[in-house]
Amino acid sequence: MTLMLAVRRFEARDASAAAIIRRLPDYFTDDVPAKVDQDVARHEAWVLTDSGMVAGFVVAARKSAAGAEILWIAVDAARRGCGHGTRLLSHVLDHLAAAGISVVEVKTLDRSSGYRPYEATRAFWERNGFVHLDTIDPLPGWQPGSPAAIYVAALRPTR
Ligand SMILES: CC(C)(COP(=O)(O)OP(=O)(O)OC[C@H]1O[C@@H](n2cnc3c(N)ncnc32)[C@H](O)[C@@H]1OP(=O)(O)O)[C@@H](O)C(=O)NCCC(=O)NCCS
Repeated sequence: MTLMLAVRRFEARDASAAAIIRRLPDYFTDDVPAKVDQDVARHEAWVLTDSGMVAGFVVAARKSAAGAEILWIAVDAARRGCGHGTRLLSHVLDHLAAAGISVVEVKTLDRSSGYRPYEATRAFWERNGFVHLDTIDPLPGWQPGSPAAIYVAALRPTR
């Protein structure tokens, strides 16, 4: 049962982000916890807490004056599908919009991979207003055989 949800900035004591990732082996390869550790230090990151326990996290990077990218988002395996991801993402998108960001990108595993676990992930992005714009394979830095789906969401009109 969800008792009390809150979103706050990621703090140094929140090493629990790596623990959340390790409990999602169908979604993240072994190299990801180290990359997330670097990215939470370099970029902006938040956690969602449920009665004080970290239940999810998100990392966003500013790419330009009006553009940003969601680098990572994950909800603890046992608590997925309860609206936590939507709550966390909404908080961050509101923050980015208030900071002058107009367009947000996310890269995820493309449908053409045929990999079932990411069907729910793409449904999550589409339900939250992200539009599939392009598929890039191979994407530099991604493992061969992992076609990247590029999704974007507008936070305000740009013309
Ligand atoms: C993707 C993730 C962050 C979404 O968080 P969540 O709390 O599970 O998602 P929500 O409960 O907010 O779901 C929002 C929408 O996503 C879609 N969705 C979520 N889980 C789904 C599932 N198992 N199957 C189909 N659609 C699903 C639905 O459209 C849902 O809206 P609805 O409840 O109105 O139907 C989370 O599931 C997760 O950590 N996944 C594994 C890691 C991952 O894929 N990270 C993103 C990499 S790009």
